[in-house]
Amino acid sequence: MGKKAELHYEGKVFEIPVVTGSENENALDISKLRGESGLITLDRGFKNTGSTQSAITFLNGEEGILRYRGYSIEELAEKSSFLEVSFLLIYGELPTQQELDKFTKDISEHSLVHEDVKSILDGYPSKAHPMGVLSSLVSALTAFYPKSLDPNRSKEQINGTIIRFIAKLPTLAAWSFKNRMRQPIMYPKNKLNYTSNFLHMMFGLPTQDTEINPVVAKALDKLLILHADHEQNCSASTVRIVGSSHASLYASVSAGIAALWGPLHGGANQAVIEMLEEIKADGGDVDKYVAKAKDKSDPFRLMGFGHRVYKNFDPRATIIKKAADDVLRELGIEDPVLDIAMKLEKVALEDEYFKVRGLYPNVDFYSGIIYRALGIPTDMFTVMFAIGRLPGWISQWKEMRENNEPIGRPRQVYTGATERAYVGMENR
Ligand code: CMC
Repeated sequence: MGKKAELHYEGKVFEIPVVTGSENENALDISKLRGESGLITLDRGFKNTGSTQSAITFLNGEEGILRYRGYSIEELAEKSSFLEVSFLLIYGELPTQQELDKFTKDISEHSLVHEDVKSILDGYPSKAHPMGVLSSLVSALTAFYPKSLDPNRSKEQINGTIIRFIAKLPTLAAWSFKNRMRQPIMYPKNKLNYTSNFLHMMFGLPTQDTEINPVVAKALDKLLILHADHEQNCSASTVRIVGSSHASLYASVSAGIAALWGPLHGGANQAVIEMLEEIKADGGDVDKYVAKAKDKSDPFRLMGFGHRVYKNFDPRATIIKKAADDVLRELGIEDPVLDIAMKLEKVALEDEYFKVRGLYPNVDFYSGIIYRALGIPTDMFTVMFAIGRLPGWISQWKEMRENNEPIGRPRQVYTGATERAYVGMENR
């Protein structure tokens, strides 16, 4: 007999089954509650609501644990590569050497995008934010691959869409940057590995040979691993809910990119550097900004602090902080913004306001510092996050489809006017 909870309401008792996950997490299954009792649950922002059962990523916010398919983020970041982790997330197991070689080859052979994408790019103003461009170009992929619109195609066909997607996203991302710079686009080079190829398309120029710094390529690969999935966050939930209407993978992820763009989610990495720059320009008075963040009448928040799930520490931030130190040292870069970041971290961590609320630096607090050191422009930071998150979005979408999940459609508690008679114009 499975565990059950009881709900006592208006003299009646309703039994609610308890669902237990593989890490012994318990949830009340309220899917039949409304039919039996007339009640729904209300949970703004889904702070305490599980939207699905998933076998992809395990996260324990109290203990700072993050695992992809059972493997710890610490081990994966140290020993694995981004494409290996992508394979793991999407297909559920670490690849054999042969599987990884094939996956890598397939991806490198699909990195070119249709020439007509260039004319779409030409239509954007140079000031267009690369996240907006990326989201719309991903949606535009449906125009070039119309068969991908059908999410019920064979496993092999869906896999073709997945490979094409991982292959082309860095090309679209780099081209959105080239468009911003009004520089000629660079075509992908199949012989380069995934991150080196991206760096070549970002920073290469047709007038010269591009030299890819292996330290930069390796650091970038690690960053992509750390961003690869994060269970049911805002953008992953968006991808799943859009996909639940049987929208295509490209359309669903295009919506996910838009969700990621916001400063409370992935856009925080851009916002952190802008905040640190602002503090620096304002004389470096960290206390002043901590006070502003605590002042409830001031909308300012310390960007890169706090997390919906992590309340002790964000394990990704710990790895990134170390990686930032290594990259800055290896590249011989001294970044004054890093000093401000360290001061801010120290002051906030010792402050009662932040302690009581469990607010710690998150992944975005340090990622921007590495991206800067790697020469990535600030408004491309969230695009980097999107490239890293793609295998996560794909696996969430794939799992949702394979489990034949119903269309996502929350309920609400209506608080508007009750029925009233139409008022003619003359009486308003
Ligand atoms: N600075 C100051 N106060 C904060 C902050 C912050 N960064 N974050 C949360 N708080 C306060 C908030 O005002 C509230 O206080 P009170 O209880 O007095 O009303 C309390 O902490 C709880 O905050 P919340 O907004 O109810 O928590 P949430 O779970 O809804 O929001 C968050 C989580 C990440 C959106 C939020 O912490 C935040 O806005 N952080 C800054 C943006 C940021 O760095 N986002 C990146 C998240 S990590 C990357 C990713 O995976 O998306």
